[in-house]
Amino acid sequence: MKLAVIYHSVTGNTKNMGDLIVKGMNSVEGAEAKAFPIEAVDTEFVQEAKCVVFGSPIYAAHITGQMMSFLLSDAGKLKLAGKLVGAYTTAQYVHGGAELGIREMLDHAMVMGALTYSGGGAYGNPIIHLGPVGIDNTMDIGQFAENFEIYGSRMAQKAMELFAK
Ligand SMILES: Cc1cc2nc3c(=O)[nH]c(=O)nc-3n(C[C@H](O)[C@H](O)[C@H](O)COP(=O)(O)O)c2cc1C
Repeated sequence: MKLAVIYHSVTGNTKNMGDLIVKGMNSVEGAEAKAFPIEAVDTEFVQEAKCVVFGSPIYAAHITGQMMSFLLSDAGKLKLAGKLVGAYTTAQYVHGGAELGIREMLDHAMVMGALTYSGGGAYGNPIIHLGPVGIDNTMDIGQFAENFEIYGSRMAQKAMELFAK
C-alpha cells in the first residue's frame, strides 16, 4: 500500500520530521511510504496512496504561504477524497501556533473529502492529539523524533485496517 508525506521545508526541520514519519510508516508490513517536498511531488504516486500526511513549518502562527498555495492550487490533483489524511508542523515556540497549523491542513483535507486522523489518545503514550509537533533547535528537535516515527506507524496501521484487502 502506498502512503505519502508532503512537506514544505526551508531549513530542514520539517523535511527531517517527515522522513521520520515515512520511516514509521514503512515499519508496518505491506507499506510503501515516500516523502515529497511540495516542489517535487510525484502526483501519480500520491493519487494511488491511501494515506497522505502534510507537513509545514509555522510562520506567524500559520502554515507557510507556500504550503497554503500548494494546498489551494495543487492538492486538487491528488485525489484526496476518501484517503486517510494527517498533518504535522515544526515551530520555534511551544505557543507559536503549531497546532493551529495542523488544523489548517486538516481542515483543508476535509474540504477535499478526506478522512482526517491522528490516533489521538487511542494508542496510549505518546498521546498525539491533532498531529505531531517538533519544536526546532531552540529545544533540540531531536527529542521529538520518536513521536514522529510512532505517529507514522499509527497512520499506516490505520490505513491498513481501513483499506487493505
Ligand atoms: C518567517 C518565519 C516566521 C516564523 N514564525 C514562527 C511562529 O509564528 N511561531 C513559531 O513557533 N515559529 C516560527 N518560525 C520558526 C519555524 O517555524 C521553525 O524554525 C521551523 O522548524 C522551520 O522549518 P524548516 O526547517 O522545515 O524550514 C518562523 C520562522 C520563519 C523563518
